[in-house]
Amino acid sequence: MHSFRYVRGKLFCEGVAVESLVKKFGTPLYVYSQETLTDHYSKLDQALAPLDHMICYAMKANSNLGVMRTLANLGSGFDVVSGGELQRVIAAGGNPKKCVFAGVGKTEEEIEFALRKGIYSFNVESEPEIARINRVAARLKKIAPIAVRVNPNIDAHTHAKITTGTYENKFGIQFEHVEGVYARASKLKNIKLHGLQMHIGSQLTQVTPYELAVKKVAPMVKTLAARYGFEFFSIGGGLGIVYKPALASGSAAWWKSSEAKGIMTPATYAEKLVPLLQPIGLRILVEPGRFIVGNAGIFVTRVEYVKKTGKKNFVIVDGAMNDLIRPAFYDSYHEILSLSEKKGATISSDVVGGVCESSDFFCKDRELPKVGDGDYLALLSAGAYGSVMGSNYNSRALAAEVLVNKTKFAAVREREKLERIWEHEKIPAWLK
Ligand SMILES: Cc1ncc(COP(=O)(O)O)c(C=O)c1O
Repeated sequence: MHSFRYVRGKLFCEGVAVESLVKKFGTPLYVYSQETLTDHYSKLDQALAPLDHMICYAMKANSNLGVMRTLANLGSGFDVVSGGELQRVIAAGGNPKKCVFAGVGKTEEEIEFALRKGIYSFNVESEPEIARINRVAARLKKIAPIAVRVNPNIDAHTHAKITTGTYENKFGIQFEHVEGVYARASKLKNIKLHGLQMHIGSQLTQVTPYELAVKKVAPMVKTLAARYGFEFFSIGGGLGIVYKPALASGSAAWWKSSEAKGIMTPATYAEKLVPLLQPIGLRILVEPGRFIVGNAGIFVTRVEYVKKTGKKNFVIVDGAMNDLIRPAFYDSYHEILSLSEKKGATISSDVVGGVCESSDFFCKDRELPKVGDGDYLALLSAGAYGSVMGSNYNSRALAAEVLVNKTKFAAVREREKLERIWEHEKIPAWLK
């Protein structure tokens, strides 16, 4: 479900009219619903209740402190991919002991920091990384818990840029090599073989690739767990969301109709996977990012100009690809609604930002209600991989972010001040 809906013709987030947020905080603006975050976390948590499990929210999807505190308060752990992300966990009030550290490029400093903070596991991606972790742990007189990220070579049938579980990708260790890697790692004094991890890709809407991957990896996990005394098996993240049509997903009926159409929900995910995972007898970790936050956030932008060319109707808005790069990066779809519901005639439109790139667009040739200067548009399902990928390209300040809780709301990130963009830059003395 999610908590964005029209009430008497005005788009609301929970009990707050989005227009009132725009008046207070301006645009471009991200708006997050605490109720939706809680609902998504809880749905998954309940579906996995038959298993000893831990949800490690993949904070790369949205690492805003307000979002993270909401999840930490629900008991979530975190999947981190840098020392910076682990520092953020701490700043948000999360527990490093419930964190797994993924990523192919961990530096010595990051490993040391994570060890000092008592990380639950390093999910390792190469043998040189294991050797480095062992070295750092020995220096600190610590034992480092690790899990090998197995690349099961299963095609998740998702967008090429978010497929991670085939031998074309830089992630993980080839399935056939994993046993040998554990055997060699078991000889290292400062390494504890703590589990096994996999992650096959992002935005999966079918459960079948997970089933295939779990079936392929389960026998190996059982053998290695018996050999080395593992505590956990992580099946990664990747649960997809429905981007199209996103507003309809606000209703309970939507979950049912998704199931009928074969789109994976926490219930169908668990129904297929719990029977495969239970006999393994280990704690099961999941690392969802998009599923938790994707539909919990919208991106709001103001129409500046409407420009007609021979071929096109361009709606030019004050948000741009530096705020939300997903359409440019992945050709992704975001439902676009007017904050004031419009039911009249539609017109084929390209909604574009002001950045000087042709790839700066939010939609192309989409039938949208006619809008004009001063209207506001909301791009739905913008909670995941939205603000976190924001940049200052074209010297544009980062957007503000607001968290709504029923009728309460607060800025969880203030709009960036322009001077901050060049704060760390210097003009050399010889140019002065
Ligand atoms: C190791 C790992 N876990 C979890 C995730 C989260 O993926 P998603 O947001 O699709 O759930 C990713 C995404 O890249 C990942 O690489």
